[in-house]
Amino acid sequence: MTAPRPQRPSPPTQSAAASRTRKQDLPVSEVRRYLEPGPIVLVSSHWRGQDNLMTMGWHLVMEFTPSLIGCVISSANHSHEMIRRSRECVINLPTTALTDTVVRIGNCSGAEVDKFAAFGLARGAGEVVKAPLVTDCHANFECRLHDTALVKRHDFFIFEVVKAHVAPRPRHPKTLHYTGDGVFVVAGQVISRRQLFRPGML
Ligand SMILES: Cc1cc2nc3c(=O)[nH]c(=O)nc-3n(C[C@H](O)[C@H](O)[C@H](O)COP(=O)(O)O)c2cc1C
Repeated sequence: MTAPRPQRPSPPTQSAAASRTRKQDLPVSEVRRYLEPGPIVLVSSHWRGQDNLMTMGWHLVMEFTPSLIGCVISSANHSHEMIRRSRECVINLPTTALTDTVVRIGNCSGAEVDKFAAFGLARGAGEVVKAPLVTDCHANFECRLHDTALVKRHDFFIFEVVKAHVAPRPRHPKTLHYTGDGVFVVAGQVISRRQLFRPGML
């Protein structure tokens, strides 16, 4: 008699029943808690001899080829003018190793603080852009401004990623995802459903 093959434990998923329970009203201003959580990134910029950094959560992938990323960078931020004028930036992907630094960078302005010096961050040279790479981040994406059509109206910049530098390990880094009110969730469980995808959709 052959021993039963050990079952591969399936990754824990939330039951659909839990989602089906009676829902409550949510103020629409709090929808961000559910829809915002792409990874928090650090945007580095360079203009007229100054390097700067800001924390950013409002970004989205718009196209694969060319590689287009849309970002909201408020005109109240010092980075806004630096990026609008230089027409470039680097999108850096921090992990939980930089949690406190990410928050501090997002709570002060480059108009008053040299953030690289204040937070002891090492910078690397870009291959294509003048904005510095934050070397302690898991990935660095060099970007050129692709389209300014919505900058004036919505502070919405569309960048093309022109060069990407990525640490090979870990494959799924512990990134930070902001849910508002000073709280983050951390990317965790990896679930693959490759077999359900049409090849063209992968
Ligand atoms: C978690 C977090 C996420 C943020 N996301 C954004 C964002 O997506 N867009 C934005 O304009 N500001 C965002 N901010 C605010 C800026 O990072 C903050 O105003 C920063 O101080 C701007 O720096 P600067 O004036 O040197 O450009 C965020 C801040 C935090 C803490």
